[in-house]
Amino acid sequence: MKTLLYPKCSVLIATVFAISAVGITGCSDHTETKAVDRVEEAAALARVKDLEARAEVIKSNMPAANDITATAGGTDTASGKPTIKMPDESTIPDDEFGAAVRRGLQIANHTYKEMPNNVGNQLNCTSCHLGNGSEAYAAPWNNMPSVYPIYRTRAGRVNTIQERINGCFERSMNGKALDLGSDDMNAMVAYMSWLSQDMPFGVSPEGRGFVKVDKNLEPNTDNGKKLFAEKCSVCHGATGEGQYNDDGTYVYPAVAGEKSFNDGAGMARTYTAAAFIKGKMPFGQGNTLTDQEAVDIAAYFTHLPRPVKANKDKDWPKGDAPKDVRR
Ligand code: HEC
Ligand code: HEC
Repeated sequence: MKTLLYPKCSVLIATVFAISAVGITGCSDHTETKAVDRVEEAAALARVKDLEARAEVIKSNMPAANDITATAGGTDTASGKPTIKMPDESTIPDDEFGAAVRRGLQIANHTYKEMPNNVGNQLNCTSCHLGNGSEAYAAPWNNMPSVYPIYRTRAGRVNTIQERINGCFERSMNGKALDLGSDDMNAMVAYMSWLSQDMPFGVSPEGRGFVKVDKNLEPNTDNGKKLFAEKCSVCHGATGEGQYNDDGTYVYPAVAGEKSFNDGAGMARTYTAAAFIKGKMPFGQGNTLTDQEAVDIAAYFTHLPRPVKANKDKDWPKGDAPKDVRR
């Protein structure tokens, strides 16, 4: 179990093993070689070969840094990428680690109730990361603890998974970053590790990010406004404000206004939002909008009034910001 939950360690151990295996086979004319079990030696060699092959596969599957749609094209199962699923909750171990995994799952689904000091709107992680953060094409978290750290152009530096999570706290949740080593941060990473069990180290899964939309399409916001009223407002409200229970929890989340994500969020960008809604909205009717409709609707609702992110001008410090970035 440990090697599955801590994939980085398993590769490290395997690498040490590989080095020692080379050490053994590399001195075959030495007298001590007689003590080496030939079966063991052959097995060690096979493992080295296997490791090399896996390293090649991982290298060729490395995601284009920060271009989340680049690795999530269509339903091409010929991609050879691992598919994802939510593991059975009975596989959560009954110990301290398991308690952290459960806490991470709890936070994911009840973020604004559980973390009032860090959340400035009324969204949960799973408002966007659907299906417990484990649904293909809804930016799933499976395998992210071994895909990260990666270089991200928005930050202009390498980000760890914890920093990536904090990015969503500061933008998608319009809130504050967590301490990097806090129990709740560790719980979220523990949960994501648990989601990654049985997956190969560092490989982007099939369905990472969102479906693709054509970023060359020019948005028509008037048409977007009309389509939003037809297809979205029944759940998200006429002005995107959402709908709420008496205890303040939402029935349908806000896509605009003070209870929504801020203008520095990935979801505030026309083509990122278009990619999400094309694959997943209207809820339960994913992939019914055309690319143009998704782009039109996204341009409309993302530019409705919403919280403003401070210091957005510091994003993309190397000047390579995509065209739909908000300033
Ligand atoms: C308003 C929608 C929204 C909410 C809420 C949200 N996120 Fe995200 N998240 C995104 C989008 C969009 C991306 C894709 C990257 C981008 O373009 O910024 C993303 C990406 C991520 C990634 C990286 C995925 C990858 O493939 O690299 C992680 C990890 C993540 N979010 C964690 C969280 C956590 C944890 C929470 C809750 C604290 C959260 N997110 C809340 C929209 C959201
Ligand atoms: C049948 C109700 C329904 C309809 C219609 C619908 N949605 Fe949603 N939407 C949801 C639900 C449910 C969620 C996810 C909430 C959860 O699971 O916690 C969601 C999530 C979202 C999110 C991410 C969370 C947030 O609040 O920012 C966006 C953006 C969104 N919808 C946009 C749209 C757009 C645009 C349309 C119209 C094309 C649309 N939705 C139509 C029910 C609906």
